[in-house]
Amino acid sequence: MKPETDALLQLALSAHRTGRRQQAETLYREALKQEPRNASANNLLGALLMELGRNRDALPYLRKAALHAPTYEAAQSNYGAVLYTLSKKGDERLAKDEAKVWAKKQPQNKIAGHWAAALGVVAKVGAAMPESLVRNTFDGFARDFDQKLAKLGYRGPEILAAALKEFVKPPLDILDAGCGTGLMASHLKPWARHLSGVDLSTAMIDQARARKLYDALEAGELVAYLQAHPQSFDLIAAADVFCYLGDLAPVLAASKAALRDGGLLAFTVEAAQAEDFTLGQSGRYAHGDAYLRAALAEAGLQLLSLVQDVARQEGGQAVPCFVVVAGKD
Ligand SMILES: C[S@@+](CC[C@H](N)C(=O)[O-])C[C@H]1O[C@@H](n2cnc3c(N)ncnc32)[C@H](O)[C@@H]1O
Repeated sequence: MKPETDALLQLALSAHRTGRRQQAETLYREALKQEPRNASANNLLGALLMELGRNRDALPYLRKAALHAPTYEAAQSNYGAVLYTLSKKGDERLAKDEAKVWAKKQPQNKIAGHWAAALGVVAKVGAAMPESLVRNTFDGFARDFDQKLAKLGYRGPEILAAALKEFVKPPLDILDAGCGTGLMASHLKPWARHLSGVDLSTAMIDQARARKLYDALEAGELVAYLQAHPQSFDLIAAADVFCYLGDLAPVLAASKAALRDGGLLAFTVEAAQAEDFTLGQSGRYAHGDAYLRAALAEAGLQLLSLVQDVARQEGGQAVPCFVVVAGKD
C-alpha cells in the first residue's frame, strides 16, 4: 500500500471509530481514488455503508474486497453479512446470485461455501459455521452484543439456568462453553466452585473478563478445548452456541469426555421443524427434536429434560428453541 493511502486509511478509521461517519466515508473514498483495488479500503467503506443501512451501496465494495483478498477474513465475513442482510430485506435473488458466483470463483473458501449453502444455492451444508466466520462475526459484535441481544429479548441464560435448577448439586466445577460476553456467568456463579469460560472470539472474552466472575477464561475452539480437558467438569453449559454447529456428534462426544461421572451438559438450540438439523439463511443451524434425542443417545449421554421455549425474537417473531439437559452416568 502507498504511504499516502495508508495515512488516509488511518484517518478514515479514526473518524469511523469515533462516530464521524460522514468524514470517514469521504476519507475512504479518497483512499480508493488512489488505490481502487485496496482490499482494506473497500472492506472498511463497505462495512461503514452497511452500518448506515445502505446495503446495496455497500455490496460492490465488499464484493471487491472479498474476491480480491480470499484470505482476508474480515472482508469475507462482511461480504457474507451483506448478502444475508440483502436477502432478509427483499433482495433475495440478488443475494443468491452473488453467493453462487462467489462460491464458484472460490471453491476452497469455506465462508463462501457456508453462505452459498445458507442462501440455498449449493446443496452441500457444512458440519459447522467456519471458525474464522464465527470469530470475525463476534469480534465485530462484542462491544454492542449485550445491548443488541437485550433488544431481541434474549433470555437464553435465564431459561438454561431454570432448566438446570432441579438437577444441580453445588459446589461444581463449571464450564461456560461459548461464554461470549459472559451473560450466563451470574446464573452459574452461585453454583460454582470454579467457573471457566471458553470462546472463539477474543473480543467477546475481553467483555466476559470485565465482569470479574470467571476464575479462568480462554480463547479457543470449543471441541478442541473439551478434548484437552478430560474429566474436568461437573457442568458444561452452552447457551445459544450449538446453533453455530450443525453436526453435534463431535461436541457431544467431547463434552462426555470432559465431564466427570454424574456430570451435566445443558444447552439451547434453535428448534427445527425437520427431524434432522438444518442451516438457515441467517447462517445459523437449527436442530430437530428427533435429531437431538438420537445424537445424545449416540454420544452415550442420558436425556434428563428437553423442553421447547423462546430464547429471542427476530424481526418481531419469536424464535422457538429447545432447552436440553443431559447427564453422564
Ligand atoms: C450467541 S453467542 C452466545 C454467548 C453466550 N453463551 C450467551 O448466552 O450470551 C455465541 C457464542 O458462541 C461462540 N462460539 C460459536 N461457536 C464456537 C466454537 N466452535 N467454539 C467456541 N466458541 C464458539 C461465539 O464466538 C459467540 O461468542
